[in-house]
Amino acid sequence: MAIISDDEKFNNIQQKLVDIKPEINEFDKSFENNIRPKTFENYIGQSNLKETLKISIEAAKKRELPLDHLLFYGPPGLGKTTLAGVIAQEMNVDIKITSAPALERPRDIIGILMSLKGGEILFIDEIHRLNKIAEEILYPAMEDFTLDMTTGKGQSVKTLRVPVPKFTLIGATTKAGALSGPLRDRFGIIHRLEFYTTEELAKVIERTASILNIEITKKGAFAIARRSRGTPRIANRLIKRVGDFALVKYNSEITENIANESLNILKIDEMGLDSTDRSLLKLIIEKFDGGPVGIETIAAALGEDSRTLEDVSEPYLLQSGFIQRTPRGRKVSPEAMRYLGYKTNSAQQTLF
Ligand code: ADE
Repeated sequence: MAIISDDEKFNNIQQKLVDIKPEINEFDKSFENNIRPKTFENYIGQSNLKETLKISIEAAKKRELPLDHLLFYGPPGLGKTTLAGVIAQEMNVDIKITSAPALERPRDIIGILMSLKGGEILFIDEIHRLNKIAEEILYPAMEDFTLDMTTGKGQSVKTLRVPVPKFTLIGATTKAGALSGPLRDRFGIIHRLEFYTTEELAKVIERTASILNIEITKKGAFAIARRSRGTPRIANRLIKRVGDFALVKYNSEITENIANESLNILKIDEMGLDSTDRSLLKLIIEKFDGGPVGIETIAAALGEDSRTLEDVSEPYLLQSGFIQRTPRGRKVSPEAMRYLGYKTNSAQQTLF
C-alpha cells in the first residue's frame, strides 16, 4: 500500500478545495494551495470560532464519533473552505468536496453519500443553492445516516432504508437566510465568519509574503491590510500584485510608500474600495438621488450580475456603513457621500 505523507495528504485535500472554485484560474490554484494554512495554529483570525471548533474536535475524538454537522456562513473570501480543510486535517480524516450546483440530480447526491467512508467529511459549498429533492435526500442522511430509496412504480412502490457511513457535513454559504429552515435545523454547529481586523490581515500578509519569498516591512503589510476589505482572499491577491510592482518598478522590498503607490495605481482606494464599489455608490447617488433603489436596477445599470453585487460588493459596503438595505432597496449613507466628495444636505442627513 502506498504511504502518503501528511503534507501530500493535505495538498490532495487542498487541490480538491480549489477544484470547486471555478473563479480561480490554473495559476491561482497552485498559489492558493501553497498559502492556505493547514492547521489551526497557522490559521489566523476567527479566534472564537477556532476555540469552539477545537473543543468540538477534541470531544468528537474522545467519543470516537464524527464531528457534528457544521454550517459556516459569511461573505466570500473569509476562509470557510480553508477552515473545512483544516478541520479534516485536525480530525485526521479525508474530505470530499462539492458544491450545491454540482448536485443537480438525485443520483449526484446519492452517489457522493454512498461513496463516503466512516468519519469522512463532506463539504458542500454554496449549500443555499441545493434543490428541494437533494435537500430531502440529505435530511435522513444527516439525521440517522440512512438513505430512503424508493423502488418500483405506482401501487408497488417500496421505500428502502439504506445505511450510509457516519459522516460530517460541512456546509458553507454566503446567504444563511436563503437556507431552508429544516436544513438549517439539522446542523449541530452554526457559525458566522467575521471580517478580519487590519492587524489580523497584516499577519496573513506577512505569512503569505514569507511563503512566496516576498520581502515586506511591517508598515507595508499594514498598508495592504488596510485596503483589503477585511478579507484574506483579497489581502493575498493584493500582496502578489504589490509584490510585482515592488520588484519591477521599485526593485525593493514592499514598504508603506510602495504599497500605497501601487494600490493607488491599481485603483484600490484607502478604504479598499475598487472601481465597481465606487461605481455602485456613485450610481445610487447621481442617478437615484441616494436611493433607495432595487439591486436589479443597480445591476442592470452597471452591467453587472446582481448576485455578484450582492455577494461580493455589498457585504463590505454594508459592514463599513456606506450602504443600507431597506425593504425598498439600497440607500447610500451620508458617510459614503462625504467619502466620495459629495456634499450632503440636511434632508439626506436625517433621512438615513
Ligand atoms: N490565508 C487565507 N486565509 C488565511 C488565514 N485565516 N490565516 C492564514 N493565512 C490565510
